[in-house]
Amino acid sequence: MISPRIEKLINDQFNMELFSSNLYLSMTSWFLSQDLDGFANFFRIQAQEEMMHAMKQFDYLHNVDGKINMMAVGAPEQTFNSIVDCFEKTLAHEQKVTASISNILHSALEDKDYATHTFFQWFINEQVEEEATMKTMLKKVKLIGENSSSLYLLNAELLQRTFQAEEGA
Ligand code: FEO
Repeated sequence: MISPRIEKLINDQFNMELFSSNLYLSMTSWFLSQDLDGFANFFRIQAQEEMMHAMKQFDYLHNVDGKINMMAVGAPEQTFNSIVDCFEKTLAHEQKVTASISNILHSALEDKDYATHTFFQWFINEQVEEEATMKTMLKKVKLIGENSSSLYLLNAELLQRTFQAEEGA
């Protein structure tokens, strides 16, 4: 049986994943408004991955006889100053997610909840990948700056990205 403390932490994490999905959909919309369909595609897939993360946690909580508490999800930002701004905000957000998952792992060990500790190992590994991806993307868009032909090429490259269920599962 899951402890009330861990149950609350997982519910908070579930809410954070839903917020992440909304944030990346908001960025998808912003990129579409800039006619950058490749970047929009990149963030649309990020949003799908976040929903998968949320659903994994939703299922886990039920599997351990916990209760999902559906809470209001905060509204994400709607407008962004630049492409660099989007990636800076994404990286900062993912760092917050990493800290939150680290706290779940720490608390699970304190409570001797080894099932939750094992379950969230996947997420902490995923965070390493997500932070690395966003750091690389941030470097690329900073390098590109105002160079429209490089931007065109990166946009075309990002249009090729497809959603892989195992990436976000
Ligand atoms: Fe599900 Fe990007 O953290």
